[in-house]
Amino acid sequence: MSVTQEIKDRLDIIDIVSEQVSLRKSGKNYAGLCPFHSNTRTPSFYVFPDTQTWHCFGACAEGGDLFNYVMKKQGWDFKETLTYLARRAGVQLEELSPQQQKRRVAEDKIVDLLTAAAEYFHQLLLHAPEAKFARDYVEKRELTPATLATFQVGFALNAWDACRTHFNNQGYSDDDLLKAGLLSENEERGTRYDRFRNRLIIPIRDSNGRVVGFGARTLEKDGIPKYLNSPQTALFDKSHLLFGLDGAKRHVREAQQAVIVEGYMDVMQGWQAGFRNIVAQMGTALTEAQLQQLKRYTKRFVIALDADAAGMAATMRSLRVARETLDREYEVHFDAHGLVRHEGRLKADIRVMMLPEGKDPDNIIQEDPTQWPKLLEQAKPVVAYVIEMLTRDLDMGDAKAKTAVAETVLPLINDVANPIERDHYRQELARALQIDARSLRMMAASTPPPQKRPAVKTAQPSAYNHMPSFSGPPPPEPPPDPYSSAMPENGIPSAVKSKTTLDSHMREANFLRQCLEYPHMLAQVNRVLNQQAEIKVSPSDFALPEDRALLELAYERAQQKTVVTSADLCDSLDTVLAVRVRTLMALPLTAVEYLDRLPERLTMSVLDLRLAKAGEQLERAQQLYRQARVEPEVDTDLLLVYARQVANTHKRIQKINKAKDAMSSTGRRRSEYGNGRS
Ligand code: UTP
Ligand code: MN
Repeated sequence: MSVTQEIKDRLDIIDIVSEQVSLRKSGKNYAGLCPFHSNTRTPSFYVFPDTQTWHCFGACAEGGDLFNYVMKKQGWDFKETLTYLARRAGVQLEELSPQQQKRRVAEDKIVDLLTAAAEYFHQLLLHAPEAKFARDYVEKRELTPATLATFQVGFALNAWDACRTHFNNQGYSDDDLLKAGLLSENEERGTRYDRFRNRLIIPIRDSNGRVVGFGARTLEKDGIPKYLNSPQTALFDKSHLLFGLDGAKRHVREAQQAVIVEGYMDVMQGWQAGFRNIVAQMGTALTEAQLQQLKRYTKRFVIALDADAAGMAATMRSLRVARETLDREYEVHFDAHGLVRHEGRLKADIRVMMLPEGKDPDNIIQEDPTQWPKLLEQAKPVVAYVIEMLTRDLDMGDAKAKTAVAETVLPLINDVANPIERDHYRQELARALQIDARSLRMMAASTPPPQKRPAVKTAQPSAYNHMPSFSGPPPPEPPPDPYSSAMPENGIPSAVKSKTTLDSHMREANFLRQCLEYPHMLAQVNRVLNQQAEIKVSPSDFALPEDRALLELAYERAQQKTVVTSADLCDSLDTVLAVRVRTLMALPLTAVEYLDRLPERLTMSVLDLRLAKAGEQLERAQQLYRQARVEPEVDTDLLLVYARQVANTHKRIQKINKAKDAMSSTGRRRSEYGNGRS
């Protein structure tokens, strides 16, 4: 993945824009007064969370991504902006060592293989005669064709080398298949065979939508294991992944709430019923890495886990991790000696959803979808939940057990930000323990601050001693792998971007590739553009921030008389641009014999880029227009703004198409002439 893409993935343009512009929600999007032109009435400035872009429909009639927003707003160049945003996103701007680069290329290859495998399994489920049983199974589980398509659910044939043969024929080696976790190996016998056989296949994606592994469910009644997952690799680390997050993140942000469930089926069934802010931790305890990802979208969580004892323990563990991961805000206090004390308070709102005994969200939603919002509504704040759980079967005659409960719960109560709520919970705890609230208050005062709080001693034998201690240290975690979420070059998650976007990316890359090689090409392209009354190639024609910076560089280079080799160029650039240049240099060059046609062809691709962009804008404007028209109180000024935008974009598209037609007919004339000559 390119660094700029990684930065964009980690930051939310809404957050950054709202630091300077007051935004209000308008449908799926956000609107406000444009920070780039003076206007105090019409909120013509839009920010689109799904594409992480902005657009001013007013006087500016211009838009872009996070990078050019910051560049424009701050008046910074690419490098300054990159440095600033990288720091905010916590992304390191380091030179990749040759090994790291090699690793990236290798990883991209595995992702390509996994992406192809997901499609292969999916097609088998849909069409293979051998998959009839699997098709019956998903029907029995009430998964609709649309859901199967959305999650790309698949089927692995009941054979030892079906997948292997298929991908060997596509040019993937056994080593590739092993690395992707599609083959298993018996080292003693030296045999290799398909890992997934006769199972329902559920692709697991990272938060960017890249397929990184599979969960494979047995189709036999008591088949073991129930789910066979991909083996742990750098790419597939269950403790870093949340199933469904790629699709759920928009909905999590919109609902300002994330529901965390156990399993694949829960997410898919929820999605199907329209509850789309659901992710699954895939049966293991919730980890810090998982929460770090989620908290980019919301700080409000509902944990929906099994009501049984094992589920309880897992819930408690999850809550502890949640508490330790999520940001705290610090309050300043003065204690009896006038000393300043900082106390941490949890900023997040964590609730627990109690599921009816023996049921998981999958069953509940299937039985009656209306139960789901009700259960959500009844989700209890963590503290209330813990008090209830710990005191439910407590022996009220056991003073030590009661103390242990108090010691466990008080730190949680101390983390509640609101003093009234805090007091409320202390009273609730006192009531549940049948003790005086004053003694609890005394105990609370002597509880050390959160960071240094010692682990609660294991309680005396009693009903709750199977609970893990709540404030114990979190289990050690391996250091996060900075490249574990790398993406194919250009940062295009293959499954999510439309074909036109992909085409645009290719055009953009090819254009720059040729200009890097033939710096004089740029002037020639601009001449042709000028003949068609089109403005010269400009950074706004490009989608990637790196490419916009490179174009400016190409202009600078074209002015210089000295010849600069690409290697010199790479050395003089900062890393991010150098990486991009290297990627571009790997693309094919136009053969010398076609060079005379190159300016026309490149001009055509500029026009195509402009066309694609205008098309997107048109769609946007139409959508906003339609939406503004049905608002309860129609803002006629705004309606006019959109209508004008629709009309202008239409005109723009016509103009570009005319230029394209004119060019292809001159091209034809010329080549006919050429043919006639020979
Ligand atoms: P469950 O046993 O609750 O399965 O495990 P489920 O999601 O309800 O699946 P169905 O409805 O029986 O088909 C919850 C999650 O734990 C992980 C999976 O992610 C599963 O969805 N799990 C479970 C495994 O990874 N391996 C297993 O063998 C079992
Ligand atoms: Mn289930």
